[in-house]
Amino acid sequence: MPLLRDKMRSMELIRWNDRLKLGIAVVDRQHERLVEIINRLHDATVQGRGSAVIGEIIDEMIIYTATHFSMEEKYFAQFDYPDAEEHKREHDALIEKVGAFADDFAKAQGGSKSALATELLQFLKIWWQFHMMETDAKFVTLFRERGLT
Ligand SMILES: [Fe+2]
Repeated sequence: MPLLRDKMRSMELIRWNDRLKLGIAVVDRQHERLVEIINRLHDATVQGRGSAVIGEIIDEMIIYTATHFSMEEKYFAQFDYPDAEEHKREHDALIEKVGAFADDFAKAQGGSKSALATELLQFLKIWWQFHMMETDAKFVTLFRERGLT
């Protein structure tokens, strides 16, 4: 059923594909899972699921994002990555921004909840694509030199 499959695929907010892969298995695996959570949040928002469901996915995303950033930052320290401070500032800014969105979402009522979720998703789509393809791409050479493949 190619038509149905194409339709399902077109609903993905972020398509996981080779452009997003860095060639470091542990990082790619976590990025793929983050994209899956964001796409699930998108599906729940588009389908008009309840705010409890959407709130739970936002929480799951926040927890997994923190886990993922800690993993990258552990390697920055271990490998003496020269751009660590600048990179961590991007991580911290995202955590702060998404935390503020989650607070606003919890307080919002009715239609403004779905408007906030839509705004969050558009921000996440742009942020993550840029972060993976530009910011994370900068550590690939060093990580691979240190044996992480
Ligand atoms: Fe990163």
